Amino acid sequence: MKIDVVSIFPEYLQPLRLSLVGKAIENGIVDLGVHDLRRWTHDRHRTVDDTPYGGGAGMVMRPEPWGEALDEIAPIDQKAGDHPGRLLIMTPAGRPFTQRLADELAGEDHLIFACGRYEGIDARVAVDASRRMRTDEVSIGDYVLNGGEVAALVIIEAVVRLLPGVIGNPESLAEESHAAGHDQLLEYPLYTKPPSWRELDVPEILFSGHHARIAAWRREQAERITRERRPDLLPGADRDPRPEERPGA
Ligand code: ADE
Repeated sequence: MKIDVVSIFPEYLQPLRLSLVGKAIENGIVDLGVHDLRRWTHDRHRTVDDTPYGGGAGMVMRPEPWGEALDEIAPIDQKAGDHPGRLLIMTPAGRPFTQRLADELAGEDHLIFACGRYEGIDARVAVDASRRMRTDEVSIGDYVLNGGEVAALVIIEAVVRLLPGVIGNPESLAEESHAAGHDQLLEYPLYTKPPSWRELDVPEILFSGHHARIAAWRREQAERITRERRPDLLPGADRDPRPEERPGA
């Protein structure tokens, strides 16, 4: 998979060279390009932002450097007439990033991440890009970060670990919280040695060797934890919008 990231702080993406994603790059599973947006500026000050039309606080990223960067990184395939990859624009106003979207992105050949700073990127960049490639504005959660870099790190880690050959034991992917086919339950509690620690004992059932009973216990625990922490995930829950956010609530 080819992954390109465009940012005015390319150093922010350095952690991708570590750990599992770093190994995936070394092994050739991922081909990572990190690009400084200012490469596509043409003035002495390498300007990427300007004041918002219509007024308001803060600065907005100008469209021209983004347009030129994306033209170069995601060129139009002359035969197909579009670019086969997928552009992800990081913004708190985007569609929510979920495990389902991670699974979907893991099937792509080329992902391009646009990391905005300041108040965001001129809206025409997404419109222009969507004329030639699949483009999504994506948020990693209902909070505001200083820029899209950390959001790109989150999404890249969640996607790359799904690629074949990245995780030693692919079975560990199937059991996790939010895994597809896991009934959308959070993961059950995990224990390892020692059997007793600071007067806290590992639940007896886990020593029983009785696989069916252990599976049933884990299922109960997963349901309990999900009920306590994320009742919105349970079957039949009214997921969208959350009750407290409904108009007139
Ligand atoms: N940029 C700033 N906040 C963000 C968020 N929550 N998700 C994605 N990009 C962002």
